[in-house]
Amino acid sequence: MISFPPNSPSPTPAAKLPRHHHDHNKNSNRHVPKAISISSPPPTITTTTTNHETTPLDQNDDAVAAFWDYQFLFISQRKETTQPITLLPVNGAVPPDFPKGTYYLAGPGLFSDDHGSTVHPLDGHGYLKSFHVAAAGEGNKEVQFMAKYVRTEAQMEEHEPETDTWRFTHRGPFSLLKGGRRVGNTKVMKNVANTSVLKWGRRLFCLWEGGDPYQIDHRSLDTVGRFGLIDDGGGGGEKKEKESHDAGGGGVDLWDVAAGLLKPILYGVFRMPPKRLLSHYKLDTKRDRLLTLSCNAEDMLMPRNNFTFYEYDSNFKLLQKQEFEIPDRLMIHDWAFTDTHYILFGNRIKIDVLGAIQAVCGLSPMISTLSVDPPSSSTSPIYLLPRFPENDDGGRDWRVPVEAPAPMWLLHVGNAFQTVDESGNAEIRVHAATCSYQWFNFTKLFGQ
Ligand SMILES: [Fe+2]
Repeated sequence: MISFPPNSPSPTPAAKLPRHHHDHNKNSNRHVPKAISISSPPPTITTTTTNHETTPLDQNDDAVAAFWDYQFLFISQRKETTQPITLLPVNGAVPPDFPKGTYYLAGPGLFSDDHGSTVHPLDGHGYLKSFHVAAAGEGNKEVQFMAKYVRTEAQMEEHEPETDTWRFTHRGPFSLLKGGRRVGNTKVMKNVANTSVLKWGRRLFCLWEGGDPYQIDHRSLDTVGRFGLIDDGGGGGEKKEKESHDAGGGGVDLWDVAAGLLKPILYGVFRMPPKRLLSHYKLDTKRDRLLTLSCNAEDMLMPRNNFTFYEYDSNFKLLQKQEFEIPDRLMIHDWAFTDTHYILFGNRIKIDVLGAIQAVCGLSPMISTLSVDPPSSSTSPIYLLPRFPENDDGGRDWRVPVEAPAPMWLLHVGNAFQTVDESGNAEIRVHAATCSYQWFNFTKLFGQ
């Protein structure tokens, strides 16, 4: 809990869509564990099943299903369901008053190619599923299912549609390829659009933590193309000039020089976009705004970060854009906001020299370039950045983080909101799960 001078008294939920799940194309045979779902649904339309009574076998099925579900969690799904099929209920039926609409689910779909390489799930090509709840007559509801790969540039390069075969050509930041050239392979980053799914302003997107989202046709699930959400607001509408804040004191900055040397390498050799969009977005339902966050490509390698926050209306008009330069080496994956602030939780990282050498030599994934850095501080910074500087009463310097009293690792945030205590002080409350640590193997965090 953090106290500071009062601002807004109203809690603001930070709504967002869930990310990971897997599909459950269920079989009416009750001897089959209920959650197994790796094969493609049959192309024929199924019919409504009859109810059957619950037996002890069903209860045992839950444990069996959980085991097998996990075994199949990271198995590639080679097939697409390009036309809607009606899912067959195993038990019961969709409640008649269940709301109509479509639930979209994004995640990696392909982990192994046809040439012996297996990639980390975070490098798996994006696979989008839709569950459309529709009327089925006589007051009943049914669920229609579709699933397609996102046709990213990388997907079209690595998949041969005529033979339906795959060959990974990009390493991906979390993986090593079994075949192909390892030393000097600069094809590292590939936008696989596999992290979040977002429907906003009558458009559907699949996001990736590293570049532009891909726009998807919300009915056919066909890929429309990359959508420039970072630089110009995508819709091309009127935009407000960016406001920039930094914590520096002016003069010649050696890190500016270093950044200037790094950028041509990252942009030109490794083909990284200058700014990378974080996969976690936020919806401010009170103001009807989409909030996104980007950082610079070179930030991971520099002892400072440049965070840019964007706020769009439902027509993708960029309402405001603010950049904050924070002089700290941090890894940020998720974030939070309230009525008055953006909130960043700083995970301290450093360059691992041995890991970097191994990564460049193709002996380990590129992510092993980084490691945790708990010895640099016994605290963890939480930055409260003013969302509307024009309303800032000057009561708090955003450059000074709140220091949580232990090295902590925080990747995802549940919610954040503001309240006012009995003395009239505004409080920011954050709901999140974090772990306190002394040290851990950073690359093992990604299963390496
Ligand atoms: Fe995440």
